[in-house]
Amino acid sequence: MAHELPPLPYDYAALEPHISADIMRLHHDKHHDTYVKKLNEALGQAPELQNKSAEELIRDLSSVPESIRAAVRNNGGGHVNHSMFWQIMKPEGGGNPTGAIADAINETFGDFNSFKEKFNDAGVKQFGSGWAWLVAGADGKLKITSTANQDNPLSNGEFPILGNDVWEHAYYLQYQNRRPDYLTAWWNTVNWEEINRRFAQRNR
Ligand SMILES: [Fe+2]
Repeated sequence: MAHELPPLPYDYAALEPHISADIMRLHHDKHHDTYVKKLNEALGQAPELQNKSAEELIRDLSSVPESIRAAVRNNGGGHVNHSMFWQIMKPEGGGNPTGAIADAINETFGDFNSFKEKFNDAGVKQFGSGWAWLVAGADGKLKITSTANQDNPLSNGEFPILGNDVWEHAYYLQYQNRRPDYLTAWWNTVNWEEINRRFAQRNR
């Protein structure tokens, strides 16, 4: 069964002024689509993996034949990361965290502002392309991490609760080299309901 590009759950312009319609169109219709196509291409050589979800594949990369492992890591990761990314944003998003994740953030990082500062710092310091993450570690504790390229915390035994894309394709058309400005503006798009839903799934 081929992997499919999920539809964007809102209009291209829905996250403006924080993320432009031009970025969203290119990011979803071209970049994410390419990850899906290349993942399917790679899996064409491994029929035994075709019924696994993209999450299952990147959770256990050692089960992927070496000849296609890098392709599955990059493109499967790209598919999983972006599928999450569209969902954890929404029009009229942002504001303070709600629900259980709000309590967990306060407990772990002191308050929301301290958390945001540390998270944005991880995004700024990620050299080159990658992602900043809030994950639940194997020990159940929340922590901020970053990964290069399209690597996903699932491959390290961690559960991604939220992540921000710091590839240039995510912001350059609008913010040029000002990655910190993008990271700051991005919080105005976050969908705390969806992030709470993911937080509740961290132990599964
Ligand atoms: Fe991206």
